[in-house]
Amino acid sequence: MAGRGRFISLEGGEGVGKSTQVRALAEDLRKRGIEVIETREPGGSPGAEAIRELLLTGSEDRWGAEAEALLFAAARSDHVDKVIRPAIAAGKWVLSDRFIDSSLAYQGGAGGLGIEAIRSINAFGIGEWFPDRTLVLALAEGGARARARDNEQSDRIGGRPEGYHQKVELAFRLIAAEEPERVRIIDASGSADAVTKRLLDAIADLLP
Ligand code: TYD
Repeated sequence: MAGRGRFISLEGGEGVGKSTQVRALAEDLRKRGIEVIETREPGGSPGAEAIRELLLTGSEDRWGAEAEALLFAAARSDHVDKVIRPAIAAGKWVLSDRFIDSSLAYQGGAGGLGIEAIRSINAFGIGEWFPDRTLVLALAEGGARARARDNEQSDRIGGRPEGYHQKVELAFRLIAAEEPERVRIIDASGSADAVTKRLLDAIADLLP
């Protein structure tokens, strides 16, 4: 009989290997007999994927800072409503490539709106549906080189200046310090397998 599922989010700046790790972690959990749903933000539900298109395409000035933050929050609200809440209620685990902490770090920390303002608009959208654990992939030397490699496919937000992305990294570290139980910084250096092992260690207490 399935109990309540778990909700895990993976976070980090650009090019730290998040998507690869979401897949690897999901695979490992499935081997343990856990039913896992992989999802992503912005997006994850049809409505949120439509909002993703609005957020990531077009010119940099397409949205002001406040409208951008509200669009991310609206997409997230729909994602929780249509995908995350039903899955967890059915006893499944949800692994999300990005969630609320991306908004806290990008729109709040780097975009200048402040982490608290972003927390409050998102709290309206998602209620109590915070992840059980949030794993932030980070490189000790900062992600500048990873971003340089990633640059060719960058979108409205990925293409922002280096200073913006440095503030994102700083904000993730700040959030982890504020919420050490939920949010863990994971060293993203070394082989993919070594990183997956670190992620598993950081959720060991949640495993059945
Ligand atoms: P995506 O193609 O998913 O990038 P990545 O592979 O880096 O995850 O694009 C998502 C972009 O949107 C990324 O630059 C981070 C940004 N973002 C925010 O600014 N706020 C948010 O709340 C979320 C979920 C993403």
